[in-house]
Order: sequence, then structure tokens, then C-alpha cells
Amino acid sequence: MRFKPVPLLVAGVGVCSWGMTTVLPIESGGVLQTVAPIVRYTQQFAQVPYEPTPYPVAEAMLELAKVTQDDVVYDLGSGDGRIIITAAQKFGARGVGIDINSQLVEESRENARKAGVSDRVQFLKQDLFKADVRQATVVTLYLLPKINLKLRPILLRQLKPGTRIVSHEHSMGDWKPDQIVKIDAPDRLHTLYYWVVPKEIPEYLK
Ligand SMILES: C[S@@+](CC[C@H](N)C(=O)[O-])C[C@H]1O[C@@H](n2cnc3c(N)ncnc32)[C@H](O)[C@@H]1O
Repeated sequence: MRFKPVPLLVAGVGVCSWGMTTVLPIESGGVLQTVAPIVRYTQQFAQVPYEPTPYPVAEAMLELAKVTQDDVVYDLGSGDGRIIITAAQKFGARGVGIDINSQLVEESRENARKAGVSDRVQFLKQDLFKADVRQATVVTLYLLPKINLKLRPILLRQLKPGTRIVSHEHSMGDWKPDQIVKIDAPDRLHTLYYWVVPKEIPEYLK
């Protein structure tokens, strides 16, 4: 039996698991049996690498959605929790952050504690595709185009009409945004996409 692929797998864990199924030099049935469970395991890891939204952009996302104290903001792939914590601290909202990375979830809880908003926010270690977002009135995203597209029917099935969605940098395919805003932040120009969930979901979006 050959064990060559295993070091490759270990090196890739946690950053970008998708490419691995194609690059692995799986050459025999024996090796495939050995690595297949590991491949499945890594696919449950982050499908988007961690890159925080700069604070001024996070604030602009919440302003674009006109967040108030009546809102419940969900950030899917919430990183260090900054969007949810800002929503609570500066906009008075309640919020839920969901991230697959348990270290980031721990860090978010600690950041919320330091910011004094632990009573209004929650951070869950969960796969965003399995999240229950029915309570959200605002959803924020900073993911990838293909992840946004995969998420679109899930969001449209669960979210109430009138729920606002703001995506940092990536669109949702042919779902035309209600607004596109450019933010000239110190690091670079950022693009924000804004949608409001309609009463009737057109067939092509389902
Ligand atoms: C680009 S970062 C955005 C972080 C944060 N929303 C922000 O804007 O600062 C993407 C985040 O999504 C998380 N993520 C990736 N795949 C995920 C999944 N399947 N379920 C939940 N979180 C995921 C990563 O761990 C990472 O923290």
C-alpha cells in the first residue's frame, strides 16, 4: 500500500480543501480507500479562506442595510465576529455569527465580551449551508461567487420577504441587486451588493 498522498492532504487542511480531490495522486484502489475519509473530512472545512472585512467597510455594510435596534443580523462565515459585534455596538442590533472555524468562533465570543455586547450576540460553530437563518432581518456575507450562488436558494427559501442581504465583493449571479455601492477604504476600493428579499420569488432564483 502507498501512503504518499497523506502529507499532501495534511498540508492542505483548513485552507482550501476543494482543489485536493483533483490534485491528489491517487493511483490505486488501496490508496483511495485510505484517503477518502480524510478528503471528505477536509471538505467540511472552510470553503472560503478567512479574510476580515475592514471595519469601515463593515460599518458601511450595516449602514447600507439601514440596521437598527430592531434588527437581527446574521453574518454567514463570521470570521472574528466584527460585523456582528459592530451591529450590536454601533447600531444596537442583535446578531448571530456562524463560522465553521472553531478558533474564530472562540475569538468572536472573546471579542464580544471585550466589546460588552455578549448579551446581544451569539456565535455558533456551524456550516453556513446548514444554518437556520429564519430569524434574520439582515444577512451579511463575505464569501465567494460560487458560494453565494449555492447559498442563494437556501436564503430565499428561509428568509422572510423584506429581509435585507448585503454581500461584500461578490454578487449572486443573475439576481440583480437593488443597489451596488463602492466604498473607497484605505486599503482598496470595495464593492457592496444589496438585495431585499421579494414577496414572490421568481422561478429562476429558486
Ligand atoms: C472572507 S471571511 C469573512 C469573515 C467575516 N464575515 C468578515 O467579513 O470579516 C470568510 C469566513 O467564512 C468562514 N467559512 C468558510 N466556509 C464556511 C462554511 N462552510 N460554513 C461556515 N463558515 C465558513 C471562514 O472560516 C471565514 O471566517
